[in-house]
Amino acid sequence: MKIVTILGARPQFIKAAPVSRVLRKKHTEIIVHTGQHYDANMSDIFFAELNIPKPDYHLGVGSGTHGKQTGEMMIKLEEIVLNEQPDYVLVYGDTNSTLAGALVAAKLHIPVIHVEAGLRSFNKKMPEEINRIMTDHVSEFLFCPTDTAVENLKNENITRNVLNIGDVMYDAVLYNKELAQEKSTILADLGLEAKQYHLITIHRAENTDDVQNMKNILEAFAQIEEVKVWPMHPRTKYKLASYGLSVEAIPNLKVIEPVGYLDMLTLESNAKKIITDSGGVQKEAYFMQVPCVTVREQTEWVETLETEANILVGTDVEKIVAAVKKDVRPVYSDVFGDGKAAEKIVEAIEHV
Ligand code: UD1
Ligand code: UDP
Repeated sequence: MKIVTILGARPQFIKAAPVSRVLRKKHTEIIVHTGQHYDANMSDIFFAELNIPKPDYHLGVGSGTHGKQTGEMMIKLEEIVLNEQPDYVLVYGDTNSTLAGALVAAKLHIPVIHVEAGLRSFNKKMPEEINRIMTDHVSEFLFCPTDTAVENLKNENITRNVLNIGDVMYDAVLYNKELAQEKSTILADLGLEAKQYHLITIHRAENTDDVQNMKNILEAFAQIEEVKVWPMHPRTKYKLASYGLSVEAIPNLKVIEPVGYLDMLTLESNAKKIITDSGGVQKEAYFMQVPCVTVREQTEWVETLETEANILVGTDVEKIVAAVKKDVRPVYSDVFGDGKAAEKIVEAIEHV
């Protein structure tokens, strides 16, 4: 079997690592990097740490408006898919790279495999929601991380080749957890003590593109006295600068550059709480049993909300502060599978 895998953004590198490892035991994989993320700490570091094979093609598309970025990817991807003539095109998640890959392949009649299918926030203002819906509707194989995702697809009349195989990000966490403990020195480097700090990540367009939301988020952080560490996504850095907003006055806040996966796992597992708007980070908080506060109005990961493992607060200052202070006692379950999603994906494709 020959598979063209299309990657472009940070969470996709992490999702691809376990699948690629299993896939390459018996099959040929061609990796295309669209170049959506290009800084070394948003891209190269993950290939190195996670042993992801070097991309066969790098499109170098970079940043841009949605139409320009997606369009440029499509033009370049079409040529590659035509030349390679794979049996399948494999896409992950819900970024513009996902959509570009899925549309190109579907129109060339190459069956699309979508990993992390069926997620819905039911908010079409999110670019990710458009990307997911479109990708799911042109995919031939839909690998879902949860029963909720399977149900969401059923509600859109997508039932053929839909399988809940669990979450590939759980595979990645299980594979790298011990390695992170061995290799990461980030706590010592930053002078952090386990369970004595909160970890922050914020990058969603719905937050960063709204100045009032960002003001509220910063105000909430200012009201949380404990130590906070914030590896800042470049999008957030640029947006804060463009609004003239500064984090300088926020007490006990360490803003750092985005970190690699092993450092991130270490920061997550040792945090007292995680405050985020990231999809992947909400799940990792759950896997590591660290209480999470999600700074969004909706989440696709509704299972995490049960037993307050994750509290959805939007951008209301009081709600953010109260949720971070709240003493929660979550009960965790195996709702995201058993960490063998990659094997199940490859097995399912082999037995078509
Ligand atoms: C993208 C995805 C989002 C995902 C996120 C993961 C879409 C529409 N959005 O959002 O779903 O959660 O990736 O991190 O696909 N930038 C850099 N260096 C980089 C990459 C980006 O400086 O290596 C800056 C640029 O100013 C760019 C901005 O970040 O304009 C946004 O990047 P982009 O890839 O468009 O979207 P993300 O916000 O990263
Ligand atoms: N991540 C990382 N370093 C960081 C921030 C995030 O390695 O500085 C990892 C995180 O552990 C998770 C993934 O990136 O595996 C989540 O990606 P992101 O938050 O960018 O996107 P989303 O999941 O929201 O699409």
